[in-house]
Amino acid sequence: MSRRILFIILAVLIVAGGAVTVALFGRFDRQAPLANRQAFVMPSDPARRAELIRRGEYLARAGDCIACHTTRGGQPFAGGLAMPTPFGTLYTPNITPDDETGIGAWSAEDFYRAMHAGRGKDGRLLYPAFPFPSYTRVARADSDAIYAYLRSQAAVHQPNRPNEMQFPFSFRPLLIGWRLLFFFQRRIQARPSAIRAVESRRLSR
Ligand code: HEC
Repeated sequence: MSRRILFIILAVLIVAGGAVTVALFGRFDRQAPLANRQAFVMPSDPARRAELIRRGEYLARAGDCIACHTTRGGQPFAGGLAMPTPFGTLYTPNITPDDETGIGAWSAEDFYRAMHAGRGKDGRLLYPAFPFPSYTRVARADSDAIYAYLRSQAAVHQPNRPNEMQFPFSFRPLLIGWRLLFFFQRRIQARPSAIRAVESRRLSR
């Protein structure tokens, strides 16, 4: 059997599985409402703004956003890095604050929804090559700090390179099947015992 036929059978199974789940449970996606939907306001006080951006930089480094969103020799965060997958090649998008080709027109809510729920500004389902299944735990305030940091970077006008995913994987709504099985929105839970353990290690250093 050719690989293409196998892919199509797999896709049909995923869609059928999704349809059965929708019929049984009456829900399309495990989409808990986004908590803390307060509007983000960039602090007007320069010292507070600088502090927020510094925290965002630290968090963006911890999340290694630059590694995937920059090509060798390319502009930081302008995207374009090829990510080969068994289903085709993805090219990372531009996440600089350019209005047209980057995420300049994104609000902090849009950004948090991408991090927490794996959705683009227009609501499209994002491929999990973007590690939102891990970033889903990032707290809203931390997401806002990363957002503030990215907005402080130079806007680079660089249109996104279209993905080269094989059919049917190029059809994003199929990701519903994957999401139903493998993606759960999470929130970070601070465990007092873990905090105490970190504190005592810090003190004993
Ligand atoms: C392992 C590689 C990888 C890492 C690390 C990564 N990304 Fe991405 N990111 C991607 C890919 C691939 C996409 C495109 C997914 C798609 O097309 O569905 C993406 C998409 C996005 C999008 C959606 C952009 C759009 O135009 O739809 C945002 C926002 C984003 N990433 C922000 C971040 C931030 C912030 C970090 C760091 C905390 C980060 N990414 C780290 C690979 C990565």
